[in-house]
Amino acid sequence: MDVNPLIAKRWSPRAFDGAAEVSSSTMRVLLEAARWAASHGNTQPARFLIGYRGDDTFEGIFAALRPGNQTWAGRASVLLVGAVAESDERGPMPNTEFGLGLAVQNLVLQAVELGLVTHQIGGFSPDAVRAAFGVPDHVRPVVVIAVGVLGDDADLPEDLRAREHRPRVRKPLADTVFAGHWGHPAYPPRESNPQNP
Ligand SMILES: Cc1cc2nc3c(=O)[nH]c(=O)nc-3n(C[C@H](O)[C@H](O)[C@H](O)COP(=O)(O)O)c2cc1C
Repeated sequence: MDVNPLIAKRWSPRAFDGAAEVSSSTMRVLLEAARWAASHGNTQPARFLIGYRGDDTFEGIFAALRPGNQTWAGRASVLLVGAVAESDERGPMPNTEFGLGLAVQNLVLQAVELGLVTHQIGGFSPDAVRAAFGVPDHVRPVVVIAVGVLGDDADLPEDLRAREHRPRVRKPLADTVFAGHWGHPAYPPRESNPQNP
């Protein structure tokens, strides 16, 4: 049995179609998918800021990216900031990044289902996002997510074009799943790669 095609087809391209638009109603579907993620005690820590290419929110998020990510992310149709609310009226909330991660994974898999591509970005300045958007102190920006349509890699600088075609690799399960004693593989060593099962 293979992994679900949604999971197998997801990848993180840098070649986005700089003319493509993704509508607010499509983004609502992606954000609904995120909304239905599990979270610790149903605390729902995930928060998002959304910008569409050409608007001020997009520009503010783009300006917070590290230069290396700015070389490609400006052609995305949408830039989202994924943030965590670290406390609520009852005090600090546990496992907030875990909750955001589950929400973002729902979002990116929903994007695959709709024929879109996504690329998550940790290389940005949370402080720049805070300053640009008045993010409150109890909320911490964690990740930027580029959403759009796969584009032509000819638009990329040479080094990034080469990376676009590198095989996707993962550690074998033998290195990560154990039974009986930590370090004893639960599965015999063999390559386990959804693109090359
Ligand atoms: C939290 C997080 C931060 C990331 N930060 C960056 C980044 O700053 N720049 C970048 O080009 N890719 C970034 N990536 C993308 C990863 O490099 C990519 O997911 C990984 O190499 C696996 O490739 P795949 O998504 O195509 O399977 C990030 C991914 C995650 C989940």
